[in-house]
Amino acid sequence: MTIITKLAIAASLATALTSVSIAQDNLKGLVVGFSQIGSESGWRAAETSVTRQQAEERGVDLKFADAQQKQENQIKAIRGFIAQGVDAIMVAPVVATGWDDVLTEAKEAEIPVILLDRGVDAPEDLYLTSVASDQVKEGRVAGEWLVGAVGDDDCKVVELQGTVGSTPAINRKQGFEEAIAGHDNITIARSQTGDFTRSKGKEVMEGFIKAENGGADICAVYAHNDDMAVGAIQAIKDAGLKPGTDIKVVSIDAVPDIFAAMVAGEANATVELTPNMAGPAFDALSAYLADGTMPEKFIITESKLYTPDDNPQGEYDTRKGLGY
Ligand code: AHR
Repeated sequence: MTIITKLAIAASLATALTSVSIAQDNLKGLVVGFSQIGSESGWRAAETSVTRQQAEERGVDLKFADAQQKQENQIKAIRGFIAQGVDAIMVAPVVATGWDDVLTEAKEAEIPVILLDRGVDAPEDLYLTSVASDQVKEGRVAGEWLVGAVGDDDCKVVELQGTVGSTPAINRKQGFEEAIAGHDNITIARSQTGDFTRSKGKEVMEGFIKAENGGADICAVYAHNDDMAVGAIQAIKDAGLKPGTDIKVVSIDAVPDIFAAMVAGEANATVELTPNMAGPAFDALSAYLADGTMPEKFIITESKLYTPDDNPQGEYDTRKGLGY
């Protein structure tokens, strides 16, 4: 490489870095409203902490509103943000439907809206971007793990669904069913919502165990999140069975408690969902405000499978204390 080429590369790198830092700097002092669903799970608590931290790092004044699991509270909060004239709005929508009116109001007020971690059934021009995982893929990864784990053995699965009407509940169910389709030895015997909470997960699992011969007929529990899986693990233990051995446990999120359960031999697999949705969201907002750069409509985060072979103690240590 000639010295001229080296200098040219260095100059273009410097320009790129300068424009990144200008883009980041332009968020300083902006007011961003964040309508969070609530605190139903360890994952959600971590998302809240990470969002606050990402805002602070960029000098953003984050107005936080906890909707206590209610869409009406989210709509009220968003209307409040619009009335205050915030610079942008982030929302983690509790359910998929019913957003058209309030998103239209935000659009008319020229306030960009970014969806975090869940989707909506609304026209795509009503939000700037959506930062979320591919939730169908998450279900598929969990299902593929089970297909590999049981081989040709018959396997009756019980499913703990997330919040009714939420995109992760709809999509994780679909992905899992896609993965087990064609494997006639695997059937979903029972499926009910546990609302993404530990207590509901335990309660519903107790019912499944009673209905399935004291749990003897259940081969695996598929929970749409780790918190429900942790609740199910307790129910399995209370019934005198061994979670992870008598009943396999597969779920989604990769929170520290599921790694602790893996260390104890009580959980078999989880699919990671990063709690850092806000980082990519702020980056997209920053570029958009800097020069109108339109982000991808869907910014998709990774969905990595973890099993007891993936150093669960190390994963627990790394994640513990990150706001989960
Ligand atoms: O939308 C993401 C899901 O919501 C997480 O998997 C779950 O833990 C949360 O409550």
